[in-house]
Amino acid sequence: MDILHKQSTEFSSRHVGSINQTQEMLSVIGEKDIASLINKSVPDTIRMDRQLNVPAAMTEHAYLQHIRTIAQQNQVWKTYIGQGYYNTITPAVILRNIFENPGWYTQYTPYQAEISQGRLESLLNFQTMVADLTGLPIANASLLDEATAAAEAMTMFFNTLNKQEPIERPRFFVDQDVFPQTKDLLRTRALPIQIELVEGDYKTATIDETFFGAMLQYPNDKGAVVDYQAFIQTAHTQGAFVVMATDLLALTLLTSPGELGADAAVGSAQRLGVPLGFGGPHAAFFATRDEFKRNIPGRIIGVSIDAKGKRALRMALQTREQHIKREKATSNICTAQALLANMAAMYAVYHGPDGLKNIANRITTLTRLVAEALKERGYNLISAYYFDTITVQTDRVAAIRTKAEAQHINLRYPGHDLIALSIDETTNLEDLYDLINCFEDDKQPVSFSFDKSQTVSNWPDALNRISAYLTQAVFNTHRSESQLMRYIKQLENKDLSLNTSMISLGSCTMKLNAASEIIPLSWPEWNSLHPFIPKEQAKGYHLVMEELSQHLCDITAFDACSLQPNSGAQGEYAGLLTIRAYHAAQGNPHRDVMLIPISAHGTNPASAVMAGMKVVVVKALANGYIDLDDLRQKAEGHSNQLAGIMITYPSTYGVYEETVKEITSIVHLHGGQVYMDGANMNAQVGLTAPGLIGADVCHLNLHKTFAIPHGGGGPGMGPICVKEHLKPYLPGHITQGTADAVSGAPYGSAMILLIPYAYIRMLGAAGLKEATEYAILNANYMRARLASHYDILFTNQNGQCAHEFIVDLRPFKKSAEIEAEDVAKRLMDYGFHSPTMSFPVAGTIMIEPTESEDKAEMDRFCDAMIAIREEIRAIEEGKSDKKDNPLKNAPHTQATVLADRWPHAYTRTEAAFPLYYVTHNKFWPSVSRVNNTHGDRNLICTCEPMESYLQEKA
Ligand SMILES: Cc1ncc(COP(=O)(O)O)c(C=O)c1O
Repeated sequence: MDILHKQSTEFSSRHVGSINQTQEMLSVIGEKDIASLINKSVPDTIRMDRQLNVPAAMTEHAYLQHIRTIAQQNQVWKTYIGQGYYNTITPAVILRNIFENPGWYTQYTPYQAEISQGRLESLLNFQTMVADLTGLPIANASLLDEATAAAEAMTMFFNTLNKQEPIERPRFFVDQDVFPQTKDLLRTRALPIQIELVEGDYKTATIDETFFGAMLQYPNDKGAVVDYQAFIQTAHTQGAFVVMATDLLALTLLTSPGELGADAAVGSAQRLGVPLGFGGPHAAFFATRDEFKRNIPGRIIGVSIDAKGKRALRMALQTREQHIKREKATSNICTAQALLANMAAMYAVYHGPDGLKNIANRITTLTRLVAEALKERGYNLISAYYFDTITVQTDRVAAIRTKAEAQHINLRYPGHDLIALSIDETTNLEDLYDLINCFEDDKQPVSFSFDKSQTVSNWPDALNRISAYLTQAVFNTHRSESQLMRYIKQLENKDLSLNTSMISLGSCTMKLNAASEIIPLSWPEWNSLHPFIPKEQAKGYHLVMEELSQHLCDITAFDACSLQPNSGAQGEYAGLLTIRAYHAAQGNPHRDVMLIPISAHGTNPASAVMAGMKVVVVKALANGYIDLDDLRQKAEGHSNQLAGIMITYPSTYGVYEETVKEITSIVHLHGGQVYMDGANMNAQVGLTAPGLIGADVCHLNLHKTFAIPHGGGGPGMGPICVKEHLKPYLPGHITQGTADAVSGAPYGSAMILLIPYAYIRMLGAAGLKEATEYAILNANYMRARLASHYDILFTNQNGQCAHEFIVDLRPFKKSAEIEAEDVAKRLMDYGFHSPTMSFPVAGTIMIEPTESEDKAEMDRFCDAMIAIREEIRAIEEGKSDKKDNPLKNAPHTQATVLADRWPHAYTRTEAAFPLYYVTHNKFWPSVSRVNNTHGDRNLICTCEPMESYLQEKA
């Protein structure tokens, strides 16, 4: 045995959980070795006949040294660029207990409310904070970034006022002083859906009845704090809606957008303790008036009750928005930025209203100091009113820049005669000497006076904030570190994460998020870079990103990659825009029909509509395969307008269709392009590739296949890879002198790209392939164990599944009045998170164990499923009551089981400790089954006011 080889491949055995139980598992499936299993699962015609071109695996220790060396190529300068991204101080208690804590970062989107009350509460805090500060009653639980949030507001207004064709109000006004990256993104989003974007000066613009909306920035791009009330009133008289992009910290001192009359407010919550990370991930916010509550993009957390009438939280209204509404969905947002919203919310919980105000006061006072010092030195400020940003007009730009750079200071240079700077929470008095010195003639030393007791307001009195905010108990309780640490822990304990048990969510790939992959994210060289710094200061980032792009191209068998989209759905949108631009360049702008199989994820049709395409649905056969006859007919029928097809491979039914190449060639024959949704790449890496099945473009969910944690509903990254012919049409970014951005930052949530990079470098070519093989082995092992107890839907001709499989629960509705939901909730009593429910087939669950689970854990899950089957059988056979049984009453909380009264026919032990293993690792759901309809009928999506807690206590 080569002991050094063993060392270099050790990560593989840490990542792949069942590596030492291979033979036992194969024998349950009835296969002799992995090769024969794979041969029977993955069709020959699409197999990759080469090794991946990825360097050999590194040990975890070697990787950490490697990434530290690369980190040194990033330079951490003192940066005052602002423009929506600010230095901030992440309180260490939040860094350690949330950002670096798998109890928070490995969670999934809180679909299963009973085991998600912790993050639901934290997200409700986020919504409350946003609603209070913006002065608007309804806020969502985060979006991807400020620029995309602005675009969501634009489309929300557009869809509200333009229900009929032809479009009567096609125009949207955007003030010239909105951040440039936002304006660029609005342009990208406006074009395909025929919105005419009109840029101008709000002071002189004429808004008439052809405008459906307008956008303003507050404080604006130059830093000016402007009273927009008159403009908003005029827009309203013409029937147009107004969205203000804004800054939550500034709103602790400034009159809120709601009070100024705005219909929506958007922005980034980054500066509330979330590291810069070279562009992300950060949580954007979106708040609006009550009348838009059913059209808000993204997730809203609402207050409801549980089966015992107790307060319980859940995702309200749009829970599965895209799945239900598909092409009529309000947006394609699925993964957003929950983890970062939780961090921002905790920052507000920790500092409270006074603390936040104090930070804002300090920032604006220091800004005033700089502004006065520059005025004294004869500089001309663009605006007399500002919060944290001033813009100087000068003919000395080059000299000032040289001096700033010599001191390792980044200022912003928005025009040939303009210099802007933004002060932030990290700026201290000493910094001001260096900063002012950049503008100094060096004849006299920098000096200024500072009155510590003074609070200043650098804006018109009419914009002084008078209204109260964050008066709720949660923002006024946790001031000491012990208190906050315990509050965070208390919430964490309510949530089932990967550090409790496996989360076998089909289509979501909840695999190991290894500590070594994540640790570097806490290093300043990676997490404190501003996204718009010059390239030379981010050499480490560029090195990693270039290498990662190459690996992703190799893995997908494609030629080029854009790392910009910051979620899977954004990747879909970016990919479709690429196809659209390609057709237009070929002289075929009319090609706008997108074929989408019935089994597709809801984001596919939602993204197609955003890209200005018409959706035509393709049928499935009884075995789950795409119906080739229907496909042929539809491709032929729309031959002249065909833009392409969106397929998922293996299909969302968990099968490698042998017909995939036929599907792609039919579409190509009719001039269409093939988009592959990469959600299921965990079944492809190293075995086949999108390029080999005939696709032209795909996105990769780096938060699935490539180990980025799900964070309780984000972050994510959805880069797209394309064939050579599509390369010229990939998204650009203003900072690179190009356009058509799909994210606010040029590399999306750049910081988390380190995770897939680490994943690829520590597994190496062989490890990556092995991970795929074990994902397939694990799924087939579980399938084989469950097959004699449940009907398994959609296997291939050899009776096998890919990396996931669907268990049919529909028969139990008739036989025992048991629904999929009852099984999902009962699994909680056994200590497990439910698999994906009712996608892609209603009444089923889809299980995806991933390669990271070991046999013992999978066995516990299978034992739980088999025990549940027996509980159903007892109902079927009349041994258990149809209404009062462990499934219908699931989940069982500690309070219910320990109550003095136990009214059920089954025992407390059967309820809470149904199998022996549960006694060793009991996870208690914190509420009983949550009532969904109650919450939607009585929508409450902010924390209750202080008085309601007092009433409860009384
Ligand atoms: C098949 C499929 N496509 C697309 C998506 C959307 O990806 P994201 O949530 O990253 O936007 C998902 C998400 O679960 C999915 O399962």
